[in-house]
Amino acid sequence: MKDVKQELAYAVASATGVIAAEDALRLFETPPDPSKGDIAFPCFRLSKLLRKPPAVIAQELSGTIGLPDAIEKAEPVNGYLNFFVRPSYYAQMLASLGDHSALCESGKGKTACIDFSSPNIAKKFHLGHIGTTMIGNALRNIFEYCGWKVIAINYLGDWGTSFGKLICAYKMWSSREAIERNGVIELERIYARFNKEAQTDESLNQAARDAFCALEQGNEEYREIWRYFREISLKEYMKTYDLLGIKFDSYNGESFYTDKMPAVVEELREKGLLKLDDGASVVDLSAYDMPPALILKRDGSTLYPTRDIAAAKWRKQEYDFDKCIYVTSAGQSLHFAQWFKVVELMGYDWASELVHVPYGTMSFGGEKLASRTGNIIYLDDLLAQAIEKAESIIDEKNADLKDKHETAVAIGVGAVVFNALFNARIKDVDFSWDSALSFEGNTGPYLQYTYARASSVLRKCPDAGDCAGYSPNADEIALIKQLTLFDNKVAQALEQYEPSVITRYLLDTCGAYNQFYHSSPVVRAEGAEQNFRISLTAAFRETAGKCLELLGMRRTEEI
Ligand code: ARG
Repeated sequence: MKDVKQELAYAVASATGVIAAEDALRLFETPPDPSKGDIAFPCFRLSKLLRKPPAVIAQELSGTIGLPDAIEKAEPVNGYLNFFVRPSYYAQMLASLGDHSALCESGKGKTACIDFSSPNIAKKFHLGHIGTTMIGNALRNIFEYCGWKVIAINYLGDWGTSFGKLICAYKMWSSREAIERNGVIELERIYARFNKEAQTDESLNQAARDAFCALEQGNEEYREIWRYFREISLKEYMKTYDLLGIKFDSYNGESFYTDKMPAVVEELREKGLLKLDDGASVVDLSAYDMPPALILKRDGSTLYPTRDIAAAKWRKQEYDFDKCIYVTSAGQSLHFAQWFKVVELMGYDWASELVHVPYGTMSFGGEKLASRTGNIIYLDDLLAQAIEKAESIIDEKNADLKDKHETAVAIGVGAVVFNALFNARIKDVDFSWDSALSFEGNTGPYLQYTYARASSVLRKCPDAGDCAGYSPNADEIALIKQLTLFDNKVAQALEQYEPSVITRYLLDTCGAYNQFYHSSPVVRAEGAEQNFRISLTAAFRETAGKCLELLGMRRTEEI
């Protein structure tokens, strides 16, 4: 399509004599009604230059313009000149659909760190983590596909005063056996109990502060317990990541940066950025309409922003990133805006390479998610239910399927991933079991099912021969046009850090494929017609399969 528009732009330029080809190229639109043409040139801009009404210009131009070979005819419609692409041209286009080299090389030589998922350890993975995990993973895939080198970072929340509480609680009420038996849920249990009892027993809070202090100073017993909590948590998270097919290149969490923070505090002080505020050290950001960034608490302990600054400096040194992307809920937007500003004030020009990618909050039954009130859904429960449902549907429909369990996992996970990546990321969503486990309509399983349908056609008709001279029908043309959009959509998803662009595109593409599938038989067709349809099915399968993978869903060859 690019070449056709290029040729048309020259034709318009030479027929009118008042507009340059590159300007004409930018004006082309797509007629909303495909029966009125494939490409539209609006004549409104020319109206001033030629001192004629647009409709007259369109009319005259239709008689004088020299049409390129790919264009069958041109028709004036209300100030537009509409062009009809010759159907045989689409057949030619089909051959070049698989070439994505420009897109795949667009990020060559560039590095992106993507910080995502990053749960606070000793807590179970729940609905609130779905956004960062799925969006982050899709972005990782998209950047990689576009040629970027990606470092996927799981910045575990594995440091802070809560570990003082956990160590105390563990020593009083738990044991290795209990944790071995129940996993992270045991840690959640004792943590909740500690907070509850501390409400009436202030000495507990003091004990927790002392324990964290000892941990920071390297107390061997406490470090051993802390390491154990980290290991147990990671083991559980890994199961979920494995199920989701997600991998990280680094698990350097908050604890990794503890010894790198004093230097940052010193640097801030030397650069004259630190101010005392009621005993705490802060960076004043009032000139930028933001509250001060907290660097050191009154007792000298460091804070979340301090650690993020130290981590960003370390990553810049270690990876020399061109972008460092952070995927978190929009609730943390101010935190990122503040410390990005501090990095800029420190004089680092790479502050402009830091990107926060926020997403909306997830609620359940209209209420905030909170383990304290029990309004929580664990991710492993959700995945288990989705997989179970997929399994029972397969049992009903295709009990003899070869890799039944694997397929059920692919579909169950697909349903959950799709649900997380369907809406524009910033939208707040209220979780519903019904829509998360729905396999009908706009859902992940529908996309995977459509992909499997194309695979099945190609198993029956694996080889496409020559299709020269074939003139495609309207459904075939609509599908080809849809497939030509792939590169643009992926580039847009990357630019906007918005995987839902691909989700929506894949839905539309599957819609166009199903329309073609129902109107245009492949197995029963013959000769050039069949060959063309086989090629088109293969092109759809490749594009849809790539989209599934970019989103973090699996290709399902047979369902
Ligand atoms: N652990 C944090 C949380 O659960 C998210 C960390 C995001 N990444 C970062 N570099 N701050 O809220």
